[in-house]
Amino acid sequence: MPHSDTEPGFVSLVSAGPGDPELLTLKAAKRLSQAQVVLFDDLASGPVLDHADPQAQLISVGKRAGRPSARQEHVNALLVEHARAGRRVVRLKSGDSGIFGRLEEELIALTEAGIPFEIIPGVTSASAAAAAAGMPLTRRLTARRVQFVTGADVTGHLPEDINWAAVADPSVTTVVFMGQRSFPKLAQGLCDHGLPGTTPALFAEAVGHPHQRLIRTTVDELAAMMQRAEVIQPGLILYGPLAFHGDQAPDRP
Ligand SMILES: C[S@@+](CC[C@H](N)C(=O)[O-])C[C@H]1O[C@@H](n2cnc3c(N)ncnc32)[C@H](O)[C@@H]1O
Repeated sequence: MPHSDTEPGFVSLVSAGPGDPELLTLKAAKRLSQAQVVLFDDLASGPVLDHADPQAQLISVGKRAGRPSARQEHVNALLVEHARAGRRVVRLKSGDSGIFGRLEEELIALTEAGIPFEIIPGVTSASAAAAAAGMPLTRRLTARRVQFVTGADVTGHLPEDINWAAVADPSVTTVVFMGQRSFPKLAQGLCDHGLPGTTPALFAEAVGHPHQRLIRTTVDELAAMMQRAEVIQPGLILYGPLAFHGDQAPDRP
């Protein structure tokens, strides 16, 4: 069972939110300030790291799409090594650590090594994207379900065993993570399975970062755009019966 305190030799798997430091939870900020070692991903860096103790050892274990999976073993080994040395370790992951975050691999490594841990949930980029675009993820009459899917399997390509009936369901809000490159292929499959190309779509790039970009469009138009686009920033694709009501008002102090 995970412990609930921060005794030495303990790992906190902390969710960093989408990038906006104000979307970090109080608990996440507290654990960061207490940690002696922080292992962080590329997407969980930037201003959120300002909460770490200046004396803490900050270790980038950046993992972007397409990197070899051996890196995960390296991260597992670092986690175990630092915890075994009796340190308070934070493993910082973007968004909510339990969503497409390879959390399970690290939990297995910690469990096998007998190291106590806790998981601190956070704001996933999916809900941050919907909020930034001024819309809900569910709608009482038209979107009674929301589904999070990945556009990339371990090889970086659209998963072969995709559940087409589910992803082409017109009464669902679908959020595609890591799907920019594969979206043209996904969109073709959606069309083949009956989803109209005119279905509303949102491309939400770098949500919560200063260069955030939101594009409201349709599935067909977004597929054409993604065909030409170079992927530099993290981005999400949402489609379904989306409610476009305009951007949320800018932050007020
Ligand atoms: C490895 S997954 C991690 C998802 C994360 N656990 C979450 O809950 O947001 C990385 C993918 O999440 C999406 N993502 C993460 N942060 C994002 C952001 N700030 N803006 C847009 N998409 C983001 C992108 O699709 C990116 O390729």
